[in-house]
Amino acid sequence: MSRRLEDKVAIVIGAGQTPGDTIGNGRAMSVLFAREGARVLLVDRILEAALETQGQIEGEGGQSVPFQADVTKPETCQQLVDKCLALWGRIDIFVYNIGTGDGQPSLTMPESRWDTVFDINLRGLFSCYKAVLPVMERQESGCLINISSIAAIASTPMLAYRSSKAGMNAVTQSIAVEYAKKGIRANAIMPGLLNTPMAIEGLAKALKVDKQELIKRRDKSVPLKGGMGSAWDVAYAALFLASDEARFISGVLLPVDGAQSSRVG
Ligand SMILES: NC(=O)c1ccc[n+]([C@@H]2O[C@H](COP(=O)([O-])OP(=O)(O)OC[C@H]3O[C@@H](n4cnc5c(N)ncnc54)[C@H](O)[C@@H]3O)[C@@H](O)[C@H]2O)c1
Repeated sequence: MSRRLEDKVAIVIGAGQTPGDTIGNGRAMSVLFAREGARVLLVDRILEAALETQGQIEGEGGQSVPFQADVTKPETCQQLVDKCLALWGRIDIFVYNIGTGDGQPSLTMPESRWDTVFDINLRGLFSCYKAVLPVMERQESGCLINISSIAAIASTPMLAYRSSKAGMNAVTQSIAVEYAKKGIRANAIMPGLLNTPMAIEGLAKALKVDKQELIKRRDKSVPLKGGMGSAWDVAYAALFLASDEARFISGVLLPVDGAQSSRVG
């Protein structure tokens, strides 16, 4: 095994997952990072979800610790950073994976739902950075990875989701430039349509549609042979960005989408 993250310490926000048949992005990234030698703090607002991820990592002989926190509560962001420092003394990789959609057609959405989307997708990121970046500044090194979406750069009926992910892209590039001289890199991954529990089980339930039909429909929308991507496709992209192989890569918004965002018409 190559152990591309040997001796590195990672925090993954949203390291559990929505229950379902496949694996989610947060879990796949956590498992892959641990497989490659990282120690991973598995942050999730649902402890059981983080514990399941830990079980999978432990089964493969990797190291991780679950930590329950809802990052929309700013005080928990400092607590999770303190926990990571108490355990392992540093933070090399920080992944912000959580995200939620509008749940209903854009302009019928109440303002409270708009706020929830922005709290989870963007304000939580800001609160986390306030706690994580001082540590990385002291270390004069660190790697930030944000899980955005191609919705940030392409038309979608989800107004709040799209706007918040576009905001996340902007934050990524601003931080990449502002903290470059400190040796800190910031990149975002923009997944396209994936076959993950959040997307398939979550959407099938919300839209009251048959799961297999939904899978077929989503597969058809992806130009690349094979249809939708999986959480592992996102995880391998994140692994590369987190590794020293990507030492000169910062400020990048990377589509992982089977050419979806390259298509016109
Ligand atoms: N699946 C797709 O098709 C697709 C496409 C584009 C982008 N994405 C992005 O991928 C990310 C989701 O990936 P996933 O598959 O791991 O999702 P998931 O929903 O399966 O897992 C996310 C985890 O985050 C936790 N969480 C949610 N809110 C939290 C909070 N406030 N504090 C702490 N933990 C919280 C949940 O409990 C869950 O365990 C989102 O950012 C989403 O926008 C997904």
